[in-house]
Amino acid sequence: PAARPLDGLSAIVTSGPTHEPIDPVRYIANRSSGRQGHAIAAALRDAGAKVTLVSGPVTLPDPEGIATRHVETAAEMLAAVETALPADIAVFVAAVADWRVAAESNRKIKKTAEGPPALALAENPDILATIGHHAMRPRLVVGFAAETDDLLANARKKLERKGADAILANDVSPQGGVMGGSENTIRLVTIEGVDEWPKLAKEAAAERLAEWIAARLGRGGRQ
Ligand code: C5P
Repeated sequence: PAARPLDGLSAIVTSGPTHEPIDPVRYIANRSSGRQGHAIAAALRDAGAKVTLVSGPVTLPDPEGIATRHVETAAEMLAAVETALPADIAVFVAAVADWRVAAESNRKIKKTAEGPPALALAENPDILATIGHHAMRPRLVVGFAAETDDLLANARKKLERKGADAILANDVSPQGGVMGGSENTIRLVTIEGVDEWPKLAKEAAAERLAEWIAARLGRGGRQ
């Protein structure tokens, strides 16, 4: 078979939402479908990389030719990512819950005359920031910034704070239909500047990212 640009390299991709349990039957979740993350895992595979996909709960099938690890919570996602190290490339696409319920109840919380319960929240680990500053940091670390406001300013801050080489900024305002939809309009933000991509199907955006990664790390462009 013909040589591919990421032959011999390994990649970790996170995808989907996380579910943070409240009690045995309830959880906190978000609208991520996993489509963009799964498409990026497939594009990196097609470019020749050995891919581990760490996926939160999604309805998508496991992509062929990819080691898929299924997790539910942010804490489990971080543990699965660390287990998959070392890797050359890491792309953090998952919409990780910022908070979990501080004290998960192991019994179903009942309605009482006292009214609704107060849910205390605790901060979840930031998986991208943890790996971006990790002793085994992959050579290339890419994150997303799903924002509704101040897209570029927030993406630039995220690059620095999370130790990422690139942030793919996308506008998730409800009118855009990105969250759960099939298309994405991305701006690739690095310390060198901002590259505005056209509106693309999530699969095409994934291929474009794989090409960008290959130009950075792959055959011919290897640093
Ligand atoms: O800070 P914010 O959630 O906007 O950052 C988004 C980026 O950080 C995404 O790449 C997401 O996958 C990653 N992230 C993470 N762990 C968290 C929160 C975000 O890996 N707890």
